[in-house]
Amino acid sequence: MSNKLSSQITGTGSAAPQKILTNLDLEKMVDTSDEWITERTGIKERRIADGGTAASDLSLEACQKGMQEAKITADNIDLILVGTVTPDFLLPSTACILQDRLGARNAAVLDIAAACSGFIYGLSIAQAFITSEQYRTILVIGVEVLSKITDWTDRDTCVLFGDGAGAAVVQAANSDKGIVSTYLSGDGSLANLLNIPVGGSRTPLTAENIQESSHFIQMKGSEVFKSAVRSMGDAAQKVIDMGGISQKDVDLLIPHQANIRIIEATARRIKLPMDKVYVNIDRYGNTSAASVPIALDEARKNGTIKDGSNVVLVAFGAGFTWGSALIRF
Ligand code: ACO
Repeated sequence: MSNKLSSQITGTGSAAPQKILTNLDLEKMVDTSDEWITERTGIKERRIADGGTAASDLSLEACQKGMQEAKITADNIDLILVGTVTPDFLLPSTACILQDRLGARNAAVLDIAAACSGFIYGLSIAQAFITSEQYRTILVIGVEVLSKITDWTDRDTCVLFGDGAGAAVVQAANSDKGIVSTYLSGDGSLANLLNIPVGGSRTPLTAENIQESSHFIQMKGSEVFKSAVRSMGDAAQKVIDMGGISQKDVDLLIPHQANIRIIEATARRIKLPMDKVYVNIDRYGNTSAASVPIALDEARKNGTIKDGSNVVLVAFGAGFTWGSALIRF
């Protein structure tokens, strides 16, 4: 047993809507093909929420599973951090709604608007609160209902996105295991490459801009692609170096699932073979902040992550934001 205070992941959970939208379904909606989507992105199908499902619904299910595994009750939770760009409402935060639905009366609450990097931003914030001894038990969630901000007539974007949630219980422990190192970064000068142009205080919603579909996600895909590869590769390398280990000590890389070609290029950049990279993009598409915690939950539950595994998480998203974490399980 170490004397060092660490931030350990003691439980994880995930949730996804039941409805599956396949590439063949999309062929009937826009001018695309299963072949194009599979070759250019690696996606075969994605989960789509029904009209009544919001971010807190998927989050609640993911949190309950994670809390059950960690054997904690709602009263134990000191802080709830929700990474999302698809909150239930603009006001109040989804973390507030989740606090009420979980009955976590002692918890402080905060949403993190870091797009696809939201879960990793959350892990890093959780680690800072735990190692500074302010909090002992923190729920970190990544959740998106991107289907509700997707233009289903735009083939450039609608083939990419899906819905889901993942959660992790992060707790203070005297152990050598836990979050070893984290790294966060961003570049706001590239904001216009991936954004939702209207609906904020800069340009509130009007009947006209809704008519023009400006309230949906817009993306310059190939430019985002290049930045994603560079930033995810650099960020993964940073936490490996900060953790004092080398590539051969990394047992698993869990990258944000945006595009199989981005994932492969990131792995090449840090010289990691693909058999050490977790991929589930074929089944979920890009679920933004939810993609890393869903994959983390799967990898823990299906035995890919074992006792002692060194796991690198890395993500990149709108903003741009990017970040990484090295965790010893
Ligand atoms: N079906 C068929 N053809 C298509 C489709 C489609 N769904 N979408 C685009 N095309 C066409 C284009 O019109 C273009 O045709 P043209 O050559 O006649 O002009 C051709 O395919 C190539 O288009 P590109 O955009 O250059 O294709 P690319 O290989 O770059 O793939 C993609 C596009 C998949 C979007 C890729 O650029 C990508 O994955 N980008 C990064 C996405 C990402 O990482 N986002 C970050 C996070 S998302 C968030 O934060 C919410």
